[in-house]
Amino acid sequence: MAEQVVADLRAKCEKPPSMLREVAAEMAREMGAGLEKEGGSRVKMLLSYVDKLPTGGEEGLFYGLDLGGTNFRVLKVELGGNEKHVVDRYSREVGIPPHLMSGKSSELFGFIASELAKFVNDEEKCTNISNGKKRELGFTFSFPVKQRSVASGTLVKWTKAFSINDAVGEDVVAELQTAMGKQGLDIHVAALINDAVGTLAGARYYDKDVVAGVIFGTGTNAAYVEKANAIPKWEGELPNSGDMVINMEWGNFCSAHLPITEYDQELDKESLNPGEQIYEKLTSGMYLGEIVRRVLLKISLQSSIFGNIDHTKLETPFLLRTPHISAMHHDETPDLKIVAEKLEENLEIKGTSLEARKLVVEICDIVATRAARLAAAGLAGILMKLGRDCSVEDQRSVIAIDGGLFEHYTKFRQCLETTLGELLGDEVSKAVAVKHADDGSGIGAALIAASQSQYKNDLV
Ligand code: BG6
Ligand code: GLC
Repeated sequence: MAEQVVADLRAKCEKPPSMLREVAAEMAREMGAGLEKEGGSRVKMLLSYVDKLPTGGEEGLFYGLDLGGTNFRVLKVELGGNEKHVVDRYSREVGIPPHLMSGKSSELFGFIASELAKFVNDEEKCTNISNGKKRELGFTFSFPVKQRSVASGTLVKWTKAFSINDAVGEDVVAELQTAMGKQGLDIHVAALINDAVGTLAGARYYDKDVVAGVIFGTGTNAAYVEKANAIPKWEGELPNSGDMVINMEWGNFCSAHLPITEYDQELDKESLNPGEQIYEKLTSGMYLGEIVRRVLLKISLQSSIFGNIDHTKLETPFLLRTPHISAMHHDETPDLKIVAEKLEENLEIKGTSLEARKLVVEICDIVATRAARLAAAGLAGILMKLGRDCSVEDQRSVIAIDGGLFEHYTKFRQCLETTLGELLGDEVSKAVAVKHADDGSGIGAALIAASQSQYKNDLV
């Protein structure tokens, strides 16, 4: 019985390369439709107002705020200018108290500003940065934002585990400025960016062949450089560079080609944002553990594989997290000791047989493999849209990726890379590289803030 449930799951989740190519082609089409007109696609293709990427000449000291991943970060980055690159970088990670993710927007921004105030205060005790200039900040806000300029924009909707109604439609920079004012912080927000945009900018600083920045973490998203004259929905004057970085918000992608199971449908129905972020719910760290938990619950209710257990824990949403399934999936002990430990510690499933543990590993494998293969199809979609899915002499394309899922879940990362190779074929694969972007968007936010700095023409 349990074996049958797992066999059915595998059959539904497996996608041969031909079907993944359909997913990639559909992603590329949706990108075009999203650029065509506002609301033209579920993939929003938001304008970032970042029209040039770092050159290496950026200089100065910038603060950063990074909200939207597992942890909230405050940073200080010193850019050396003219190929001297990053001179110094310091950051502090702070967990966000869960009640702030669904409370009032003023409480969330108040918390962020107070953590920033502590950080600035501690930092400035050790460094004398007062040079008569106002401090400047790059704000990485990893949610869909309709930008009005590179330093302002309104929140379209929350994603991941956030749901604060009174912030939707509001200017997040204005909210931050108000909260900073209450802390007595006089800091100019020079740039508001998405984490995928920051990852692209940060990685491009070190490697000119980077064509896209991608996140596979709590959520998933991608950003890339588009020709401004290929964006029909663009209304303003075309930027001098002729380019525009697009924040795709591809987490909201959906397609009839996606292998959606009963577990995904139930997860979606009970989520904070039913019907939305479907691709994200199949491919990102917030959800993979939860999908596995739902499958385990089904097999436990329908078979005696785990014995006569109390289901209280197994019935609790999000108790099994992606780091747990990663640990079980990578268990190489002969008797799958780690699997036994994780089941006991997190779900109170005790005394499992080796047969049951093997089945659990198989479920983790099916769910993570499906995520990685769909993730690769997304990347292939971007390359298709850019016309980089065929081989051109001397053309190298680097995709910079960050996020906890990509960084820590080795089998996910390996499967993503192998699948991308399968989709592109040997010849094209030689010219495409997937790289871990070491700092995510931290440096990227500072670089974009530097290019927008009110003192940029004032360098001595
Ligand atoms: C970090 C980026 O490195 O990765 C963040 O700087 C981003 O901006 C994050 O949100 C995503 O990671 P996770 O796994 O914490 O969601
Ligand atoms: C979610 C957010 C998006 C962000 C991504 C990765 O999809 O909507 O803005 O980039 O998560 O953090």
